[in-house]
Amino acid sequence: MKVGIIGAGAMGSGIAEVAATAGNEVVIYDNQPGAGERFNTQLEKNLSKLVEKKKITEEHYQNVRSNIKFIDNINEFKGSELIIEAIVENLAVKQEIFSKLESIVDDNCILASNTSSLSITAIASACNKPERFAGIHFFNPATIMPLVEIIPGVATSAETLSTSKSIIDSWKKVTVIAKDTPGFIVNRIARPFYGEAIRIYEEGIADMATIDWAIKSKGGFKMGPFELMDFIGHDVNYTVTETVFREFWNDAKYKPSFTQKRLVEAKRLGRKSGRGFYDYSEGASIPAPNEDDSLALKITERVLAMLINEAAEALHLHIATRDDIDQAMTKGVNYPKGLLKWADELGIKKCLDLMDELYNDYHEERYRASVLLRKMSKYNQTFY
Ligand code: NAI
Repeated sequence: MKVGIIGAGAMGSGIAEVAATAGNEVVIYDNQPGAGERFNTQLEKNLSKLVEKKKITEEHYQNVRSNIKFIDNINEFKGSELIIEAIVENLAVKQEIFSKLESIVDDNCILASNTSSLSITAIASACNKPERFAGIHFFNPATIMPLVEIIPGVATSAETLSTSKSIIDSWKKVTVIAKDTPGFIVNRIARPFYGEAIRIYEEGIADMATIDWAIKSKGGFKMGPFELMDFIGHDVNYTVTETVFREFWNDAKYKPSFTQKRLVEAKRLGRKSGRGFYDYSEGASIPAPNEDDSLALKITERVLAMLINEAAEALHLHIATRDDIDQAMTKGVNYPKGLLKWADELGIKKCLDLMDELYNDYHEERYRASVLLRKMSKYNQTFY
């Protein structure tokens, strides 16, 4: 199959490598001068590393390398059966490229966007045949993260949805289907992991190192929220929070924080800039946590209750199925357990009580419990 990728940045390059590794003929396009050279050099470097680590053979290297071609002219997308766009996150720019593409590709070519935060329906509306359009959302780095969210827009046909899913499944990725709503599954449900941790810090309940330590040691998460935000980059993480908040018509649940906004303004973007919440410059060290067990439990339960509440609300609103919600959080952001499974283990009543306690203390909309948790608790139900 011939696959087209538009945008040879962080995501497009990774997706191209995934598609070529699965044996497809891949053409990739980027409009920035010098992008082709940069792409080819980086690809060869990535593949050589895999050969060195004995993860792939020299023959496999040659196969993947010869499967990918950087193109300078979008007319070369002709004959593609699937095109995935991963260019700048701007609706008008994305719409423009898709309306151009439609005059180049055949009628049966599926068009897809890797957008994190724009509406699939809105991008598709620029196409003459929006029924062939879908969201195909990879996670960073695309070569490593197993999850891909598949998002039908309002006009997406059942055939486009099922073909997109089976193609990405055949690339050995884990696919889940999400409704076309802000943040899809992962970027919506994960918001409190960052936001509630920052809130706990802002209130002076604990310092960052203690919150990170608590969530790792009591929750089993691989990284604490502050470490993770520093790793993702505050420009990226803050933008997602801000976009989700705005797209949900300023729902207080998703309100961004001044703490993170100021970091972005100060250009303390995290690891990549040498400083974020923590200092990564030479000789600097991460402060020691206050290893207080009961404080750690309190912090972890508060963040976890918020995450479970968000997952329950997403299920209640049919954003995705139970299994897809749990799969998305374990395969897309490495959570140690699916949140709905976790809710059953903790007890639905306990999750609801944790939310109600927060709501009673704060009287803020941010802490409103999902009606699904309330009903399930009343009738003694479990998710599984
Ligand atoms: P990036 O900035 O690394 O790469 C974007 C590339 O697109 C650049 O090489 C740029 O030259 C090229 N480009 C921009 N406008 C173009 C046009 N009109 N025609 C052709 N090429 C064009 O961005 P990144 O991070 O790869 O993101 C791309 C898309 O993927 C965005 O929609 C983003 O929301 C989404 N995404 C990003 C993730 C991330 O963690 N970075 C994760 C999942 C999705």
